[in-house]
Amino acid sequence: MAEQDTGFVGVFDSGVGGLTVLGRLVAELPHERFVFFGDSAHAPYGDKPPEEVLALSRRIAAALVDEGAKALVIACNTATSVSAQALREEYASIPVIGVEPALKPATLAPRHRRILVMATAATLRLGKFQRLEDRWGANSEVIEVPCVGLADLIEKGDPASPAIRELLERYLGPWRGKVDSVVLGCTHYPLIRDQIREVMGDVQLFDGGAGTARETRRRLAAADLLAPESQAGSVELRSSIDTPDELALYRRIFELARSCC
Ligand code: DGL
Repeated sequence: MAEQDTGFVGVFDSGVGGLTVLGRLVAELPHERFVFFGDSAHAPYGDKPPEEVLALSRRIAAALVDEGAKALVIACNTATSVSAQALREEYASIPVIGVEPALKPATLAPRHRRILVMATAATLRLGKFQRLEDRWGANSEVIEVPCVGLADLIEKGDPASPAIRELLERYLGPWRGKVDSVVLGCTHYPLIRDQIREVMGDVQLFDGGAGTARETRRRLAAADLLAPESQAGSVELRSSIDTPDELALYRRIFELARSCC
């Protein structure tokens, strides 16, 4: 008898950043079918008012669920902060997993005195991060660095670009040699891990991708929704800029994400 198809996992972000989470998801759950939607037509989310991010997230989630998603992964710190709660209420019958800045592992690491958190202005401003900081930041000095404009530059598809280096120098340069670790609190930032290291030198970098992938496995298992091991996994990449060039960029960034993040 053929095994029952458990459906696909819908993953979304404001753009290419969520591909870093998708890479971790595929590594953790190789038998799953993933449909990834990047909202590049509306990126960046980090500079938008929460109501707008919520409306965009709702629209994407509704389309994925209508199509049969068995679970949703919000592969965006900003969208998670704004919309995870609402989407969990609206889609209470399926797992809705979010991503958050990896402050907890950074504070539990041996060197955790001064932790710099890079994120969008929205993520740092919203209550979810403030609660995370209250819970885990008590024994560390947490330095918040809103990296306005950075995700936007990464969206252009050239992680090694001089413009990115210049912006990193502006935001992070003043902290060189002064922090123990850096939390990459936006899913776009693991794509520029090398550039961040060049500016910051020998610091430990933390991102939330692997934790999100493990949590997705736990939630699918708990709901008895894991794909059977006989199923060949697959990945479909979609963008709200639905052009061959954009999709080629997504494929290239996804390959990069799988090798670097
Ligand atoms: N990748 C997103 C995040 O993790 C947001 C980037 C943006 O659109 O501003 O926050």
